[in-house]
Amino acid sequence: MNPCYRDDPEALRALVQPDRVHRDLYLSPELFELEQERFFARTWNYLAHDSQIPEVGDYLTLEHAGRPLIVVRHSDRSVRVLMNRCAHKGAQLVSDPCGNTGRFFRCPYHAWTFKTDGAPLAIPLKPGYEGTGLAGCENGRGLVGVPHVRLYRGFIFVRLSDTGPDFESYFGDSLSSIDNMADRSPEGELEIAGGCLRFVHDCNWKMFVENLNDTMHPMVAHESSAGTAKALWAGQPLEAPKPMAVEQFLPFMSDYKFFEDMGVRVYDNGHSFSGVHFSIHSHYAPIPAYQEAMQARYGEQRTAEILGMARHNTVYYPNLTIKGAIQAIRVVRPLAVDKTVVESWTFRLKGAPEALLQRTAMYSRLINSPFSVVGHDDLHAYRSIQSGLRASGNPWVSLHRDHQPGEEAGGERTCTGTSEISMRNQYRAWLHHMCDKR
Ligand code: FES
Ligand SMILES: [Fe+2]
Repeated sequence: MNPCYRDDPEALRALVQPDRVHRDLYLSPELFELEQERFFARTWNYLAHDSQIPEVGDYLTLEHAGRPLIVVRHSDRSVRVLMNRCAHKGAQLVSDPCGNTGRFFRCPYHAWTFKTDGAPLAIPLKPGYEGTGLAGCENGRGLVGVPHVRLYRGFIFVRLSDTGPDFESYFGDSLSSIDNMADRSPEGELEIAGGCLRFVHDCNWKMFVENLNDTMHPMVAHESSAGTAKALWAGQPLEAPKPMAVEQFLPFMSDYKFFEDMGVRVYDNGHSFSGVHFSIHSHYAPIPAYQEAMQARYGEQRTAEILGMARHNTVYYPNLTIKGAIQAIRVVRPLAVDKTVVESWTFRLKGAPEALLQRTAMYSRLINSPFSVVGHDDLHAYRSIQSGLRASGNPWVSLHRDHQPGEEAGGERTCTGTSEISMRNQYRAWLHHMCDKR
């Protein structure tokens, strides 16, 4: 029988070794529940982008760490995050994924109303509460707000728990990847373009997050998709202009040396990015009108610096992964121990020509979406792990590649791009927050 991890910190610690992790991280429903309560509540997680709620009263709803949340633009234009739970008997205030509530929320059950900062506004037949204890208890105080909310270049992050690291020390210099994505706009700002592509993965959320900086798999797992594009393009002269789809597919078939030389950098708290020196996005054909718009805003040298930083995937552990160089993000929404929704969002660079958006939209469809042939290569591998790990005889998942003694001390480090250091780094952070008793 499995140990009870909730009450046994030693059993929890034994799951993560310096160079391998136990299969229960991916298979145990008890650990999944504990993660919601401890890990996701104590860490900073991405909810949405503020361009999704531009007007006062605009809101969106989502689940995070097992809690129903509303993200809303308050009347003073600040972004508020509230529990989607009526103060009366607990009905959800709104059930649509997004909309505009005007200046208040009205509960659909008994019509209690609340301002968009959660403050109570009105109750039908209010005299019925005179002389009762309502005003002095939680039910009289309105909607519960999430106190720890941070906007960074439009990205809305929350920490649900009152304990845990502050935003700056949690992300540190890894925020440079978000900066680079926003700086790629000639106006320095991003906005969400179009809707969300939701891809249900029937596997544990960690498999997707690990895979973002796993550079030993593309030339193997994507041989069927990207390899087919490569075969189709074979024989074309070097200087032949590539269709956008071919340009995006071919680098997935780069050799081991390419990915080794790309480099990976890790930070404390599980964050990392691959593509320290260059990446699969480095050699897209330039778009002259975009170069001009950038140079007019930033000058030649700064433009070269911004566009020269073409990172591959940045993981903001645990739930946001971004591709600054192509303006696409993926957000991880765990639903169950073996079920995860991966959301793909496409960004418009404000002030940039439409061709940039077309490039991102094509990438989202070709590589990240539920229609993607590349995405299905990855999902096939995750599914296969989810099943394969049930085998008896070896409960351990190897993360030994390029393990260096002493890396457990943490801190920012840059390694060969094929190292599995990003995964070891993730699980060190996972264990820390799972065991933190504060
Ligand atoms: S549950 Fe909301 S008003 Fe009654
Ligand atoms: Fe992949």
